[in-house]
Amino acid sequence: MRETLRYGQVGGSLDAFIGAVHRISASFDGRATLTAGCFSGNAEKNRRCGAFFHLGEDRIYDSYEAMAQAEAARADGIDFVVISTPNSTHYEIARAFLTEGVNVLCEKPLCFDVAQAEELRRLAAEKGAMFCVNYSYSGCGMVKEARALIRRGVIGEVINVNAEYLQEYLVDDVAAGEDTMVKLSSWRKDPAVAGISNCVGDIGSHIEHTVAYMTGLKLRRVAAKLDYFGQPLDLNANILVEFDNGAHGVYCCSQVCVGHMNGLVVRVFGTKGAIEWVQENPNVLYVTLKGQPTQIYNRGMGYISDEARAFNLLPSGHPEGVYEAFANIYRAWIGALLKKVNGQPFAAGDCDFPTVEDGLNGVRFIHACVESGRKDAAWVEL
Ligand SMILES: NC(=O)c1ccc[n+]([C@@H]2O[C@H](COP(=O)([O-])OP(=O)(O)OC[C@H]3O[C@@H](n4cnc5c(N)ncnc54)[C@H](O)[C@@H]3O)[C@@H](O)[C@H]2O)c1
Repeated sequence: MRETLRYGQVGGSLDAFIGAVHRISASFDGRATLTAGCFSGNAEKNRRCGAFFHLGEDRIYDSYEAMAQAEAARADGIDFVVISTPNSTHYEIARAFLTEGVNVLCEKPLCFDVAQAEELRRLAAEKGAMFCVNYSYSGCGMVKEARALIRRGVIGEVINVNAEYLQEYLVDDVAAGEDTMVKLSSWRKDPAVAGISNCVGDIGSHIEHTVAYMTGLKLRRVAAKLDYFGQPLDLNANILVEFDNGAHGVYCCSQVCVGHMNGLVVRVFGTKGAIEWVQENPNVLYVTLKGQPTQIYNRGMGYISDEARAFNLLPSGHPEGVYEAFANIYRAWIGALLKKVNGQPFAAGDCDFPTVEDGLNGVRFIHACVESGRKDAAWVEL
């Protein structure tokens, strides 16, 4: 019986943003070891990175293609690959590893278009490979608690959703001004690397998945107004959405809202009550039942559901954040993969991580929003 897994990483050199968050988070449960990597397109950087992580010389690769083939051929090859590169590369890299039958955990957005996403889903099924897309906020304990409460019918039937993801770091792109903000990699503004959208693709996609995860509702259609401010890709979007139960909602995502740093907020309104989760204060959940004062649920307490408590990493009162959310995605992913490699059947709840299907839904959402924006906010089906 295997108790630990080996993984490799593509992207995530020492100067990258999210790659280190993956490595730290994957290690929380002590069940996965970084064994191989192609951390950048630069050979010298790859050596430095591999040495820092104590990788064997023969496990440091200068191309993901060579890594996929060599790792698949080894008896002690990696059990899964983490893809933490810019968007334009996800499809090719995921395809290379799936072709070799290697399980894939890929960053969002999954890929550039719906046909690519469907191809990855098909290939994963054909090869019997598991596939996770890292919509990390669904790893937050209190997002899981919101989901459990909504599933139990505590707020009744969902009749409205109001969600926003507001940032300010690109406001200087609207009107040249003093640049005072810490910026993410500039590839996000380049259509050749980011894809068809910047703002909706980078952060609107998180709204789409977090709401879908919490409510279990599917999007039927969207009507979106995207603002470009003279840039090649969108920086701001106001999106009207319709769910498969007939309810409507409003999603706002922006990179030009002064005063907001990483403001993901989800409010779900039901016939009997409402739930609100605020990413910048992620250890609490606001629950209001009709006619009663708002209650504040705290992560890790005895009244929290078993589903959410299974993902408690620290005792209550010790704030969990981004690393722990990622770690919870890994907790579910590694647990499920261990069952797979040990030939054990999955039990209910074993696969509580975002899948390639979620990745496909995200790509559909991005494309529908952009198409709607081009048609002056006409409704577009997903
Ligand atoms: N889930 C989340 O919350 C979250 C947060 C941030 C970023 N992301 C996603 O993570 C991905 C990476 O974002 P980032 O901000 O870390 O970017 P980044 O620019 O900081 O890092 C990208 C890394 O990929 C490497 N790379 C590029 N092309 C490569 C190739 N062909 N082979 C090997 N390595 C290659 C670069 O050298 C760099 O190390 C993006 O898709 C982004 O949308 C997700």
